[in-house]
Order: sequence, then structure tokens, then C-alpha cells
Amino acid sequence: ADMARFIAALPKAEYHVHLEGTLEAEMKFALAKRNGLDLPFADVAAMKASYRYHDLPSFLAIYYDGMQVLRTQQDFYDLAYAYLARAASQNILYAEMFFDPQEHLKRGVPMAAVIGGITRARQDAAAKLGVRSQLILCFVRDLTAQSAMAALDAGLPFRDQLVAVGLDSDEKDNPPTKFAAHFAKARAAGLKVTAHCDLNQKDILDHLRQAIVELQVDRIDHGGNILESPELIAAAKARNLTFTVCPTFSGTVRGEAPPVDVVRGMIDAGLTLTINSDDPAYMGSEYLNDVLVKAQARSALTRKELVMLSRNAFNAGWMDEGYRAACL
Ligand code: HPA
Ligand code: ZN
Repeated sequence: ADMARFIAALPKAEYHVHLEGTLEAEMKFALAKRNGLDLPFADVAAMKASYRYHDLPSFLAIYYDGMQVLRTQQDFYDLAYAYLARAASQNILYAEMFFDPQEHLKRGVPMAAVIGGITRARQDAAAKLGVRSQLILCFVRDLTAQSAMAALDAGLPFRDQLVAVGLDSDEKDNPPTKFAAHFAKARAAGLKVTAHCDLNQKDILDHLRQAIVELQVDRIDHGGNILESPELIAAAKARNLTFTVCPTFSGTVRGEAPPVDVVRGMIDAGLTLTINSDDPAYMGSEYLNDVLVKAQARSALTRKELVMLSRNAFNAGWMDEGYRAACL
């Protein structure tokens, strides 16, 4: 209980949270009603009971199905504002949030509605709640390279509302190099680049190498398999790379054997990491404080290490340097 209070009181920043993964069942019902859509669930409890998955593809099917209720600019406003209000209540001062525009463009929702709604929510949350945030446009890596390029081109007119591009969804046979041209174009526009690297298969070390060495990404999302490669650990340290680790995801979606303690392993290897919630609405509605409480117990994190993780986050953010200095 003491430790939970310590964690709750820590000033925090979060960088690995998918806005569509914060879409709570209650809000899904509210948005479906507003948009005149039928949901195949009797109530919130039945919907939540359907959140059963055993690997990344089975998780993603539920996650993509759930986001279909998002139609209007107001829907995206409500989604983002709810996350930011939750963040503020957990003493998260700053967040960089992913979104998956390809999925919304597919349904005919214009990029202006998606980014416009999220941006208004960010502005209101900063003004009313004091929580700052930025936005990372994620490529859905199992869709075509052309689809990702179309999303980037649709996003670039809103470049001022974006801080980076990322890479999520099904990693199998979708290596980081599939997006080399997209990353180059994003970089040329002044955006940062990050990529999920969490394939629970042998190609993962090649994916990590591509991201870290070949494409020189600015952060890695997940990435715990790096512990299998001393060379890649050295390369990540030489580049001062930060890993956004999500212990809940690793323990459930990824189906990792429980004995593998990635958080402890990465800290002891001298890597720089932060702890994040990923898709809280689909992971027992556990937001960052809940995730940290569990990680603390599981990885025997000391108070000093918890402070270090929080400091890592403020160091790794792509925020204004004046604001960073004020947070540190
Ligand atoms: N990994 C891959 N795809 C995702 C994730 C994730 O952590 N969250 C939402 N889509
Ligand atoms: Zn993720």
C-alpha cells in the first residue's frame, strides 16, 4: 500500500499507449448509440467477457473490431480526452499517444476528423487538466506499404499536430525495413521514428537489428528480446536508445513464459527503459499506476529504480526542452 502510494505520487510520462486501446467498453456503447450502430453484445459485462485472446493476432482482431464505433471528430475527441483525464488523475504529466489512422481511413473517416478531434482534446486537457501530450501516427504494418504511405501523405498536412511515426500491429513477416521509405519521408518532414519490435519468433533479432542499426529509429517499443543479443545491447546503449516496455502486454498478448522478467533483465543489462500501459481498455482496464504496481512487485523494483524509470521517461520524450527541464 505504501508502494502504491509512492507510485501514484510519482510524476510520470507515458509513451506507449494506443488511443484506440484506451476505448473502454462503456464508451463503446455510448458511441455506438450516438452513431446508430448495433453492437453484438447485450451489455458492458458481456463485451468485456469477450476480450479473450492468446496471442497477438487474436488480440488484434478484438482491438480492430472494437474501434469501429469511432466515426466522428467528436468520437475521437471523447476518446482522447478520456485517456488524458485518466492520465491526469494518475499524475501522468506528459504522454505521447499512438493512433492507427489506416483503420479509420478504411472506414471512410477523414484524417481531419481523427487528428482534429484528438488535437482539440489535447488542447483542452492541457488547459483544463495540465496534462501535456503529443501524437504518434502509427503504420499498421500488416496492411500494404502503399496503404501506410497513403496514411502518411494524409497525415503530413497535419504535421504540426504530430511528433513521430510508429509501427504497430502484426509483426510476423512485416519487418521494419518494409517501411524504410515511410520513415525517410517522415524524417524529412522533421518527425521522429519509433517501431514496435516484439515478434515472439526467431526473426525478432533481425527486426531489432533493422530498427536499431539499419533504420536508426529514435525509440523502440517493447524490444525485450534484445536481452538475447549482447551485440544489439551494445548498439542500443551506444545510441542511447530508450525502450518503451509494456509488462501487461508481454505477460498476456505475447504469451511469454512467466519466468522471463524483461523489466528486471533490461535494468540489470544497463538498458534505458520506461514502463507503459499499451492497451489498457483491453488489459483489465489497468492504467499506468496499476501496471507499475504490478511491475514493482514482479521485478522487485526499488523506489530508486521507480524514480529512475520515471526520469528515463522525461529524458526520452520528444517535448519542448524548456518543459523537459521543468519536469526533471
Ligand atoms: N503491438 C502490436 N500491435 C498493437 C499493439 C502492440 O503492443 N497495441 C495495439 N496494436
Ligand atoms: Zn503497443
